[in-house]
Amino acid sequence: MDLDAPTALLAGLSPAQFMRRHWQRRPLLVHAAWPDVVPPLTRPQLFALAADADVESRAVVRSGGRWSVRHGPLSRRSLPPLRQPGWTLLVQGADLHADAAHRMLQPFRFVPDARLDDLMISWASDGGGVGPHVDAYDVFLLQLRGTRRWRIGRVRDERCVEGAPLKLLRRFEPRYDWLLGAGDMLYLPPGWGHDGIAVGECMTASIGFRVPRHAELAHAMLLSVADAVSDAHSGGGVPYGDRGSAATTAPACVPAALQAFARDAWVEAVRDPLAQARALGQWLSEPKPRVWFEAGRRAHSLGARALALDRRTRMLYDADHVYINGEALAASGRDAQCLRRLADERALPAAEVGRLSRGGRTIVQQWLTAGWVHER
Ligand code: SIN
Ligand code: CO
Repeated sequence: MDLDAPTALLAGLSPAQFMRRHWQRRPLLVHAAWPDVVPPLTRPQLFALAADADVESRAVVRSGGRWSVRHGPLSRRSLPPLRQPGWTLLVQGADLHADAAHRMLQPFRFVPDARLDDLMISWASDGGGVGPHVDAYDVFLLQLRGTRRWRIGRVRDERCVEGAPLKLLRRFEPRYDWLLGAGDMLYLPPGWGHDGIAVGECMTASIGFRVPRHAELAHAMLLSVADAVSDAHSGGGVPYGDRGSAATTAPACVPAALQAFARDAWVEAVRDPLAQARALGQWLSEPKPRVWFEAGRRAHSLGARALALDRRTRMLYDADHVYINGEALAASGRDAQCLRRLADERALPAAEVGRLSRGGRTIVQQWLTAGWVHER
């Protein structure tokens, strides 16, 4: 991708300009961002996904001023009739379930994969929507079919309507009011309230980006450190000893020597300079809950054919490691080059597969057997 080339997707801005001017800063409305867009799923396909227990879905119905929300799996019969106004069906992670949906993410890969969350697809009957709300993440809202009216405004008061079954802003003050037709797109940074109402039946894709927070990262990384400590010291590690300690008149007081011993254990556990980056990479590449790979269906061995990542595979890398579906692999030299290319392009030409070392081939063979990678 040429980061300096103007693109219709971003209203004639280049990806580099978009990132400087809009990303996390201000919304961007793009008419004809994707002029000939074809919904990656038909309505029946979307409804079939919503009925699947491995798919995250919800239905939001508004009737008068009352809202109701139901979470999947949602059988067709449990949903309102198509002609009933004011309801919507939302399917998360459509990219995990359909190659065509996964391919729609490709033009947005000027943003690091580490930030990507998923592609959600919604279908709405006339007047349907999820009400005025604010999200904590960046999103591209791409109109796939039909027309939607978007009202947006910066949120100054985040309080929500009490007792409502979904997050609805108590005070929403829209600043812009736009009609988006098929192929039009709206980028919204976090903190912008929005209310999208279907004008007639419509379908919308949301390309959403995760915004990790300090606390969840600290939690994930400390869990990973804990796992590493358990693996390294299956026998429990160095025992505390207090031979020679004095008798005490304050039996409830924690001994200073034990505090120092614990401090040493703590320092030892986080001593590995690569541990923190490794824990981050593992966490970021962890597959979403309810993701299954079709493992071992055909246990063929790695040949000399090109490779492609399964659409569900999350693969990332840093200076020292390659991460795939929550696992870390120290990689250097030619193997690192090949595997980084596989991660960036989500594919690897046959000639590059041939350059892998014996160890590299063994690893990729395991990924093939696990269904994380496929031969083309
Ligand atoms: C939608 O209804 O498709 C979009 C949901 C949202 O506003 O985040
Ligand atoms: Co939203």
